Amino acid sequence: MQGEEGKLESAIARAASDLVRSRHAIALTGAGISTESGIPDFRGPDGVWTKDPEAERRAYRSYETFLVDPRAYWEERLSDTAPFSIIFREVEKARPNQGHLALAELEEMSILKGVITQNVDGLHCKAGSRNILEYHGCSFKLRCAACGTRFEREDYDLEEMKKRGELPPRCKRCGGVVKSDTVSFGEPIPSDVARQSREESLKCDLMLICGTSAVVYPFAELPRMVGQRRAGGVATVIEVNAEPTPLTQEGVSDYIIQGLTGEILPLIVGEVKRRMPE
Ligand code: APR
Repeated sequence: MQGEEGKLESAIARAASDLVRSRHAIALTGAGISTESGIPDFRGPDGVWTKDPEAERRAYRSYETFLVDPRAYWEERLSDTAPFSIIFREVEKARPNQGHLALAELEEMSILKGVITQNVDGLHCKAGSRNILEYHGCSFKLRCAACGTRFEREDYDLEEMKKRGELPPRCKRCGGVVKSDTVSFGEPIPSDVARQSREESLKCDLMLICGTSAVVYPFAELPRMVGQRRAGGVATVIEVNAEPTPLTQEGVSDYIIQGLTGEILPLIVGEVKRRMPE
């Protein structure tokens, strides 16, 4: 009879051999991989939405506000008390944790071909991952709502523009209205990222899903694309998460390794190294 320790060890060993055997493995991540960097998730026990359902209801209105009154959208985003400003200050000082670094190392070893993340905190990039698709955009970028051109946040002096009454910022390329690159509820996923994410999900033969409750669409569609192909045994879906998710319950994932990404992912990397040819 295997104890908890034994079960974890064999699951880590199974994930390592699945990864070494894969031809095109990708990782999908959510807010859970950043909680060990001090950034709260949304729906976990200490999640932002769990603790403040009103904040979630406000977040659902953000895109509507942008469409109707982009100046009001920016006034709200730049106010010191807005959740975006509070989270943004947390995100700015956050550092990648062992979970991010483990995924970057798997990419360095050419085991992982890339990461599709829902997170807007830029921590995969800071950890050294290179092939990153930011499905919900990035807090450190702005994007033109008309032509889709992206800018670094510091390309605009937003505080100065707010003081001078010059909000909303305008696109340097087409003059369209510029918003945060982060994708709000109800806002379409930028077409470039949506297309590349779908292509990667259809191409991969292993999907490593880390730290997401997998309840937000269309992102949650991606694992289901792979799950459908799995019927022929051509793809493996592995979850690393603190708790089971709908992917676990619906049998979309082959197995879940339950626990903290910051602890489990480095163990998987260690096992992969032991299996790699010298
Ligand atoms: N290790 C593993 N799992 C963790 C950890 C951790 N250290 N910390 C939290 N988790 C798990 C939580 O138990 C939860 O199942 O990660 C999951 C995080 O789920 P959510 O908080 O719903 O975050 P996410 O899935 O990324 O949310 C998707 O919702 O509000 C929108 O745009 C926002 O991108 C976000 C989207």
